[in-house]
Formats: sequence, C-alpha cells, structure tokens
Amino acid sequence: VANGIGLTPQMGWNSWNHFQCNINEQMIRETADAMVSTGLAAAGYKYVNLDDCWAELNRDSQGNMVPKRSTFPSGIKALADYVHSKGLKLGIYSDAGVRTCSNLMPGSLGHEEQDAKTFASWGIDYLKYDNCFNNNVTARQRYPIMSKALQNCGRPIFFSLCEWGQEDVATWAPGIANSWRTTGDIVDNWNSMSSLADQNNQWASYAGPGGWNDPDMLEVGNGGMSVEEYRSHFSIWAIAKAPLLIGCDIRAMNNATHAILSNKEVIAVNQDKLGIQGKKIKSNANLEIWAGKLSKNRIAVVLWNRGASTAWITAYWPELGLAPYTEVNARDLWRHQTYKVKGKIYRKVKPHDCKMYVLSPV
Ligand code: GLA
Repeated sequence: VANGIGLTPQMGWNSWNHFQCNINEQMIRETADAMVSTGLAAAGYKYVNLDDCWAELNRDSQGNMVPKRSTFPSGIKALADYVHSKGLKLGIYSDAGVRTCSNLMPGSLGHEEQDAKTFASWGIDYLKYDNCFNNNVTARQRYPIMSKALQNCGRPIFFSLCEWGQEDVATWAPGIANSWRTTGDIVDNWNSMSSLADQNNQWASYAGPGGWNDPDMLEVGNGGMSVEEYRSHFSIWAIAKAPLLIGCDIRAMNNATHAILSNKEVIAVNQDKLGIQGKKIKSNANLEIWAGKLSKNRIAVVLWNRGASTAWITAYWPELGLAPYTEVNARDLWRHQTYKVKGKIYRKVKPHDCKMYVLSPV
C-alpha cells in the first residue's frame, strides 16, 4: 500500500513463535537490548513486535484496549519510548474480529478508528492484524477498514495482514497492506517450513516494494530443525522476499543461530531494492532451483536439496535468464567466497541443506 513504508520486506522480531502468551515488558525490553548488543539491529532488524496477549481481557468503560496490568504495568507508551531510544521500532497485534486468536483480549472489529488512534498515541510503528472471531464477515470487508483507520491515524504504521491466505488475499491485499500472510501458521519442523515455502511461492507475482507475501515468521533458533534446515529456511525466506521476523529468544542465541540470522549477504538479497520475489524455477524429484532477479543485473540463486541424501544440483544459465556463455562472478553467500563460472553452476548439496549465490555477469 502506498503509505511510504515497507519498500523492502520488514525485518525484526516477534514474540509468538517462542513465547506465545508468556510475554511481559521486562523481556521485551531485554529483547530490544539484545537486538542492539548482538549486532542484529546493525544487520537491519528494526521491529520489535508484540503478538497476542498484551492486553487486558476486556476494554475499559470508554471502549479502549488496556495493556495487561500484571505484565505491562508501565503501559505500551513507555515501552515504545524505550524501544525507540534504542533506535528500534515497536509493533503491536490485534485482530479483525471481536477477540484475538488466544481469546484472551479484544479484537478491533467495530473499534478500528479508536484502536488505530490509541496505537498512534502510544508511538506504535507496526500492526499485525489477525483473523479470529470474525463473525463470518469476509476479510475483504473487514481488513480495508483498519487500513483506512491506520492511514488516518497521524502516524506511519506498517500494516501486516494475518489472514492465512484466505480469499486469495495476495490478489487484493497489495492495495491495503504492507504484507499479507499467504499460509497457515508455521510449526518448527522441516515439513511445515518447506510446505509453507511452496504455498507462498504461488503468489510471487503479487509482491513488490510496499507489499510482500508472508509465509509466516522465522523459526531459526527454536530447536525443531537442524542447522542445515534452518539455513534452508532462512535462504528461501530471503530469496522469496519474505518478512524476516525472528521468532527465537535472541537473548539466548547460540552461535549457529546468530550466524544464520546475521548473514548480511543473505539479508542483502532479501532487502534488494528491486523487490522481485525469487521463485522456484525448476524441480527434479527433491532437488530444486530457486532464483530471482536483483538490481544491477544480478541474479540470486538457491540450490535446495529437499531429499534425504547428498546430491549434485546444476543450474544452467538459460534457466536463470542468462545467455549460455556469459561469464559471471558467483558469490557463495554462506561460504563468503567468489568463483568465476561460465554456463552453469553445479554443486554438491547435503540433505536438507542449500547453497546460495549471487551471480554478477562480468
Ligand atoms: C494466529 C496467528 C499467529 C499468532 C496467533 C496468536 O494463529 O496466525 O501468527 O498471531 O494467532 O494467537
């Protein structure tokens, strides 16, 4: 949507995948601190996003949402001030229904303007807007109301739809939102992650600067996948121009998790200003090639082995849109090495692992 934000996919952190409803202001502050001290902020992660369960069960007598007194005693404005003081942005969560998905707090249906104004007055920079308890009103009717309320609230607020891909959301959301979920919820395992990658891939043509397909948040660091699988997860999300929203406890990351999440060369593919979603361009049994154009005539490529044994994967130039004899510098984004290659790139890839390159014609 033309609100001037989301010109590249959003990067940040969200509380849901690791903490679900176990959130409070102290751990959100510590997360903001960790974002800076670990170098993730410098790598481009900006949003610190609250998910479900930040508010009291019911609205107050004026119909306002109230931050949960036991867990956010200082209120959301104070939290936003703190997060802003670190050079970061604060996101919040509500629902285009009468309750959120936890059923532990109100949704915004029927209170869109009031809530948008409240969020703006607190200094909120981002709204994730869920789809539970929607009274069977279509999403196409409910979501534009909040979009308009946010555009009139006096503050630029990134609008993230969480509508699970229903009603072919990618076909109509670009006019009202900065990102839209194309899938159900991610689970921290290989099958879930890979199937979401495929579902999201179908909608590639609808993504671009200002509005992105969202196959759900990252599970990197949560423990349910191997390092190779998390590397694939991050590489595919990056090339597909998906939001890079960290979902682990960044206060306690191990080195492998940190190395994946802070790979600046992979992040640069995601944040490339052309904003073209890379796609699966070839698959042969479990061996896949994903590719997409980048600025400056470069091409991003992921060779992804979804099978159970080590295999060679080859990408030939014409499949990538390059003339057959073009010489390119192939930058390996995980090994941080550059090779000169001509005609094709072929590499041995371990099971569930991938190789990721940026090809620059010489
Ligand atoms: C839905 C969303 C999730 C999360 C939960 C919170 O399932 O899809 O991303 O926000 O609700 O209850």
